[in-house]
Amino acid sequence: MVPGNEFAGTIEQVGEDVTGLTVGEPVLGFSTLGAYAEPIVVPVDQVVRKPATMPWEVAGGFSGHAQGARNALNQMKVTKGDTVLINAAAGGLGAFAVQLARPRGVSTVIGTASPANHEYLRARPTSSAENSPSPPGPATVWRTWRTPTAILRPVTAEARS
Ligand SMILES: NC(=O)c1ccc[n+]([C@@H]2O[C@H](COP(=O)([O-])OP(=O)(O)OC[C@H]3O[C@@H](n4cnc5c(N)ncnc54)[C@H](OP(=O)(O)O)[C@@H]3O)[C@@H](O)[C@H]2O)c1
Repeated sequence: MVPGNEFAGTIEQVGEDVTGLTVGEPVLGFSTLGAYAEPIVVPVDQVVRKPATMPWEVAGGFSGHAQGARNALNQMKVTKGDTVLINAAAGGLGAFAVQLARPRGVSTVIGTASPANHEYLRARPTSSAENSPSPPGPATVWRTWRTPTAILRPVTAEARS
């Protein structure tokens, strides 16, 4: 079994029916396992062009967090007018959730993070950054700001145990 669900690299070959991608283009994408192989063969809809300014090490781990955040927001049915509380908002999945929540028309995004990540979080389009003790205290946030209508808590399994 070859592990790995995300990859980035340069296209070596394209299938006969593929349009829009050419040999030599830098891309990133996902695969359900097998992404640590070199080379890797995937359907064209699992690949997108790598932005020129995106470092390879970012591209190589990009898709899982972005998809995880998008899927979470979809399952929570986050929509226009929601107040979304995102715990661990400075983490990989949380940071994507913060950025993907805004275009959905939510009224407020509240992100929590430990103090070391507050500066990072304040530079993101959240309404507030607040200390999240361990375990995080969403009740504190509820009392301080608006009542969330959706809560995403992408805390690691290690942190939950
Ligand atoms: N497709 C998917 O479904 C998918 C994809 C990626 C990840 N995940 C899952 O999402 C979770 C997060 O993954 P990640 O890669 O985003 O992790 P990560 O980058 O390590 O971020 C996790 C964040 O959790 C916060 N945290 C750690 N311990 C905490 C505690 N005790 N209380 C509150 N917050 C705590 C930390 O933020 P502070 O230091 O600021 O507190 C940290 O930034 C994992 O369970 C992972 O398996 C799922």
